[in-house]
Amino acid sequence: MITIDKNKCTKCQKCVNDCTAHAIDIENAVVSDLCIACGHCVAICAQRAVTMDNKPIVELQPQTITSHDFRTLCAHTRSCRHFTKQTVSEELLQKLVEITAQAPSASNVRGVELTVITNPDLLKKINTDVAGALLKMFRLVTRPIIKQIVQILTSKQQVIKLQNYVAKFEKAQQEGKQNITFGAPALIVFHAKHEKLGMLETDASIWASYLSLYASSFGLGTCFNGFISNAFGKNKSLQTQYGIPQNHKVYITLMLGYPAVKYANEVSRDGAMCSIV
Ligand SMILES: Cc1cc2nc3c(=O)[nH]c(=O)nc-3n(C[C@H](O)[C@H](O)[C@H](O)COP(=O)(O)O)c2cc1C
Repeated sequence: MITIDKNKCTKCQKCVNDCTAHAIDIENAVVSDLCIACGHCVAICAQRAVTMDNKPIVELQPQTITSHDFRTLCAHTRSCRHFTKQTVSEELLQKLVEITAQAPSASNVRGVELTVITNPDLLKKINTDVAGALLKMFRLVTRPIIKQIVQILTSKQQVIKLQNYVAKFEKAQQEGKQNITFGAPALIVFHAKHEKLGMLETDASIWASYLSLYASSFGLGTCFNGFISNAFGKNKSLQTQYGIPQNHKVYITLMLGYPAVKYANEVSRDGAMCSIV
């Protein structure tokens, strides 16, 4: 995968010292199979002597985003549940997906796959299928005797929440409202075949967070959707209808589109509790 061009290499040792896998034999310009393909050797080589999969080397641009800009971007990135009718171009979707190449991955497994759904009929069907499956489940767990067991296993608040979901879902169903996908013109599903190696669930969360913030920088709105991931997890035959393999686990679902609402203020809520020890 990694090739070192002997003619360009000055044996400066930068790649050797930055290689976490200790895979580089610079004297012989070879990389052993200890390599985890993280690409640090490519990134650090000013001589451009190291390449990965013979891919062209892209010079790193100066980082110009200030910490203030980044904080502002985060503050602007609210969960979007009101979308305009404008669709997201395939070119932009492709660009957004490509940002995952910049995200880290545990043990560099990079096993997370994305499925982007933009077909309006499929999006409507997902809403109907997921709402139907969840309503069935909420009705079941809020039946008199089962409800008591759920309350013992969880809490009274949890049971109240589930009962509220039943009412909310039934109302949306009667009114024909899309209370799961909120009419988003695109849905990005992050899924992977289960691997013992790596931390795919965490990778998926990180990749989706990169993508969500990147989307925000294009003026798009996103919203994570736990309901869809949950419903797919409980009913594998559901996910296969949308081209997601049966042996894959859906970790994150992200709705995407142009926001129909604008916010005026930041929200003063709690961040993470933190102790510095
Ligand atoms: C993992 C995850 C799953 C979520 N699932 C849903 C969901 O299924 N439906 C929904 O409307 N919002 C969902 N949200 C959005 C949260 O409700 C939202 O983050 C929270 O209300 C705070 O609002 P904000 O994102 O605008 O700051 C989810 C958020 C996360 C992080």
